[in-house]
Amino acid sequence: MYPIGIFDSGYGGLTVFREIRKHLPEYDYIYLGDNCRAPYGTRDFDTIYEYTLESVKYLFGMGCRLVVLACNTASAKALRSIQQKDLPGIDPDRRVLGVIRPTAEMAGDFTRTGHVGVLATTGTVNSGSYVLEIADFSPEIKVFQQACPMWVPLVENNEHEGPGADYFVKKYLDQLLAQSGDIDTVLLGCTHYPLLTGKIRQYLPAGVEVISQGEIVADKLEDYLSRHPEMERQCRKGGQTIYLTTGSAADFDSMAAIFMAQPVHSRHVKLQLPGVY
Ligand code: DGL
Repeated sequence: MYPIGIFDSGYGGLTVFREIRKHLPEYDYIYLGDNCRAPYGTRDFDTIYEYTLESVKYLFGMGCRLVVLACNTASAKALRSIQQKDLPGIDPDRRVLGVIRPTAEMAGDFTRTGHVGVLATTGTVNSGSYVLEIADFSPEIKVFQQACPMWVPLVENNEHEGPGADYFVKKYLDQLLAQSGDIDTVLLGCTHYPLLTGKIRQYLPAGVEVISQGEIVADKLEDYLSRHPEMERQCRKGGQTIYLTTGSAADFDSMAAIFMAQPVHSRHVKLQLPGVY
């Protein structure tokens, strides 16, 4: 029996993990944040793929057989290659899931005008993943994207509640709203952004709905496990979580305690595992 792996470039994936653990408290989890190399969102395709694959292999090395990329940038830039190119050679029975497809599937449930805004990292926006995936489920929806490259650094540096955040939140929202006056739904297409929800709401017109992914992804994971009993049976049920970070464990603990609303004790790790895969 094995823990479920949850991966993000840093703290953002905790907004998804928090909901996963609420929905599925019985399982064991390993959360890995690659904080020392965050943000990923402004990096090139090859680098994001390399870092994500390294992290997935590390979680496999820790025994995980199911890994959730709780990171849109990694889901956009690395998931498909890992699923199609790497997994068959590593172990065809292991699984890596992402966060973009489940979120895109729900977009049609929220909008009435058919104009949906997506806020995401530069990498996710440039990948076009949200536009393609939403078109797959709801071809009638018009998607307007806005990259917000300053938002992840604000969160990673614990500045998301400070006055500097107001400037950058307003700046990117103005740029999004300038693309269409009919946007009634805004998807937070980066797992770090829910920390800015208060400020995002403040600078959006009343009536525009702000959608975070946590609950959506948690629902879909629950659904996935119920449809894949062969995987579910392999997931260890002890209600324990191990937190790992490539950055400072002390910094991780203080930030993660805010996300998880309870004390967190993480361990610093280096990702290179000689001899594994
Ligand atoms: N949480 C990641 C995402 O959902 C943030 C990426 C970053 O490190 O820039 O895209």
